[in-house]
Amino acid sequence: MPTLNSPAKINLFLQIISRRVDGYHNLASLFQTINLCDRLHFTLTEKDSLTCTDPSIPTDASNLVLKAIDLFRRKTKLNFGLKVHLEKEIPQQAGLGGGSSNAATTLWALYQLLGQHLRLEQIIEWSSEIGSDVPFFLSQGTAYCTGRGEIITPILPLPSTSLWVVKPSQGLSTPQVYRGLDLAKLAHRDPKSNLEAFVRGEGSYYNDLEVPAFAALPLLMDLKRNLLSRGFETVLLSGSGSSFFCLGNGVPPDSPEVRCFQVRYINRAPQEWY
Ligand code: C5P
Repeated sequence: MPTLNSPAKINLFLQIISRRVDGYHNLASLFQTINLCDRLHFTLTEKDSLTCTDPSIPTDASNLVLKAIDLFRRKTKLNFGLKVHLEKEIPQQAGLGGGSSNAATTLWALYQLLGQHLRLEQIIEWSSEIGSDVPFFLSQGTAYCTGRGEIITPILPLPSTSLWVVKPSQGLSTPQVYRGLDLAKLAHRDPKSNLEAFVRGEGSYYNDLEVPAFAALPLLMDLKRNLLSRGFETVLLSGSGSSFFCLGNGVPPDSPEVRCFQVRYINRAPQEWY
């Protein structure tokens, strides 16, 4: 039975477009998977079960792995049980998409084990019911995401880059950060031209969620300043935070207050997983 990596993501830019009547926000963001990965072990059995190396992760029906199993069973009407063991490495409440990645990895495992009659596009469409970021993780690792994040346009892999992900011990709740957004204060930019610039190697790194995230957790402002003073060229919040990614030749802090991960961009081949 397969053991699969479940990668984290960062947002190279993230622009908020508008607030929607369903409470979500339309956004435009360039997502990239990185080689900071959880590992999931899958076994087909009679009954679903989920265990995790990190006791702070809920393993009840609220976990997106169990939601993914349930979704696959509902949509395919297949009768199966899946035992999953999750080795957790990706920090939580970090804006790194760990839970969404776990859900996508579970859907890929079920697609390989039981879904020979299905098309991946179909599973990608279903997967947005679990969360806005889940479809991205079923792309090949670089994608321009719009709508509430679930409309994915695949982008060819960007040049391989080494970077640091820095996560303070405090986390952030995504809905809380979105609630603090002041849409009237957002900069007017053209995300499509920035995407084209990224493909040419000249894009701008920005994240409209930094302002509300810094308001919710003021120490983030100091941490960003500290990281810039350590020689990093670009320091940007990933998603709704609380982690930053840092590009350039800086020296990461050696402090018990933060965890630092040296990572690189990864992409998957069409028929393979990460
Ligand atoms: O889709 P997901 O369940 O991951 O979203 C979590 C929360 O983040 C939503 O309930 C919403 O408050 C916020 N969100 C948003 N706009 C998005 C994505 C998420 O407002 N595009």
